[in-house]
Amino acid sequence: MTQVNQTAGSVNTEHAKLLAWVDQVAGQCKPDSVYWCDGSQAEYQAMLDTMVASGSAQWLAKDKKPNSVLVLSDPADVARVEDRTFICCENEADAGPTNHWKAPDEMRAILKPLFDGCMKGRTMYVIPFSMGPVGSPIAHIGIEISDSPYVVANMHTMTRVGNKVMDVLGTDGEFVPCVHSVGMPLESGQKDVAWPCNADNKYITHFPETKEIWSFGSGYGGNALLGKKCFALRIASIMAKEQGWMAEHMLILKLTSPEGAVKYIAAAFPSACGKTNLAMLNPTVKGWKVECVGDDIAWMKFGKDGKLHAINPEAGFFGVAPGTNYDSNPNAMESLKENAIFTNVGLTDDGDIWWEEIDGPTPDHLIDWHGNDWKPGTDVKAAHPNARFTAKAGQCPVIAPNWEDPAGVPIDAILFGGRRASTQPLAMEASSWQHGTFLGSTMASEKTAAAAGGLGELRFDPMAMLPFCGYHMGDYWQHWLNMGNKPGAKMPKVFYVNWFRKSPDGKWLWPGFGENSRILKWVCDRVDGKGDVTETAIGNLPTIDSLDLDGLDMPAEDLKQLLSVDNAEWLKVIPAMRDHYAKFGDKLPKELAGELDALEARLKA
Ligand code: GTP
Ligand code: SPV
Ligand code: MN
Repeated sequence: MTQVNQTAGSVNTEHAKLLAWVDQVAGQCKPDSVYWCDGSQAEYQAMLDTMVASGSAQWLAKDKKPNSVLVLSDPADVARVEDRTFICCENEADAGPTNHWKAPDEMRAILKPLFDGCMKGRTMYVIPFSMGPVGSPIAHIGIEISDSPYVVANMHTMTRVGNKVMDVLGTDGEFVPCVHSVGMPLESGQKDVAWPCNADNKYITHFPETKEIWSFGSGYGGNALLGKKCFALRIASIMAKEQGWMAEHMLILKLTSPEGAVKYIAAAFPSACGKTNLAMLNPTVKGWKVECVGDDIAWMKFGKDGKLHAINPEAGFFGVAPGTNYDSNPNAMESLKENAIFTNVGLTDDGDIWWEEIDGPTPDHLIDWHGNDWKPGTDVKAAHPNARFTAKAGQCPVIAPNWEDPAGVPIDAILFGGRRASTQPLAMEASSWQHGTFLGSTMASEKTAAAAGGLGELRFDPMAMLPFCGYHMGDYWQHWLNMGNKPGAKMPKVFYVNWFRKSPDGKWLWPGFGENSRILKWVCDRVDGKGDVTETAIGNLPTIDSLDLDGLDMPAEDLKQLLSVDNAEWLKVIPAMRDHYAKFGDKLPKELAGELDALEARLKA
């Protein structure tokens, strides 16, 4: 038995490949020490203590947010960086037109000098983690190496970490190697900064052939917690295509009717477009219950019943803070009450957190996410728009009792949706899996603060996977079609929703949040072959009568507008869809080209 040498933490492993890899990375990055994470609660606490001692985190008041810290990032490191994110496969054509590509050798040549000695003066943490319940046949293991205690603490909450993972790994189990560095070595005697990063040299890189991830220069969210977008979506989407399953940017919710009938719904909305909110909403429709299985990512495999069975590969929420309150998302508020990490939110004078639209009156004074004094009327926001909370999924009051079922949950419906101020109706239904795939492939949404740059700009974001599909999007669409064509496949029914339609004077037409349960109920009805629809050129819309609107006080005129389809307006979108599809050349599945032609013909009819 090899006893791996540490300054702290301990692991016994005879996994030769893992040991060799860790040695090799340590040899290159030259940390002061190597620490193997055991995943214990004591270790989590030690990480928080380390961050507080170094000045990179501060404790919140115990009577406000027990055992929770506030972390303020460098203002140059606040979100995912899509233009610094690369797919490094041998052939450029395999990355496709939606990804930034570099040849593996070329990227390795760029990364080598950056990683050489990059952990000097720091501890190198080795984080064994499982995406999905440990040992689930749908789960996969990764090992993240990072020089950031913030990453270790977040990984503890977001994934399953430590010895239990090493047990499953055994002496020769497979793992995805993930190397992360904040990219700021410390010379001897050099004082650290609160949020080390390397703003001018960020590289978030993926190597599909060798299934490796190397991330440099950023400490934030999806750039640094490599189990999340890098592994569970970009690398996993490649594994899923190779192995016949699906890795998707989807929440998973469990819906129970007053009669006790259970349905599982997965929904793909782009970043900051309402997944966390929908996943744990309190229904306003009487007698219905929503429970949360996952809020960001779904891995789905066929079960023996021919249905897709989904697990949430994550163990926590890395949720958008601004806009979250006891009205909009009470279950998120309850989840983050304690044992939470808050990044880039405001700090009240009594040691609590604050962000725009949180409950209660705006305090007279705050420290904003820049660390500056802030008072109402200050023209900067107290919390960064992409400020986040990290909290254990198990702390969510409506977490489904079976959310960790290793077999996953059978999916009955898939929803697509995005932010569309106009054009896209409140809800509609696809006529088939192929038509549903078409709807997903032509999804468009206004850009949010979850990624750096271009706020509000309308862009196509197929299946909410534009920044997350690890290979050619045309091949990905073909994979969707192929899944539907598997013998015995019982695919979920597909829907398209839009909570974000606005009136000409810029107000939300639909109240959203808990009221979205009215649409979920209609979705359930449709899955059961009930509920009325109006056939339109773009798909089947709910009739107003088929929606349960009991207790909803909103102008009939708004509802009519939300459920109307303007063929002339849609015809104007067709050229943009054609341009979008043209990018995929001969990788565009002919079935999807056919769907677009058919849509145009129906609009003109
Ligand atoms: P990521 O974690 O980035 O993937 O985001 P997400 O898709 O989980 O989005 P989230 O649920 O955190 O919502 C993002 C923002 O949209 C928040 O500010 C919410 O308050 C707002 N939002 C969510 N649902 C609704 C809705 O139904 N209507 C309106 N108007 N806003 C919503
Ligand atoms: C997203 O941007 O879709 C997120 C946040 O869920 S991050 O973890 O930063 O990717
Ligand atoms: Mn997300």
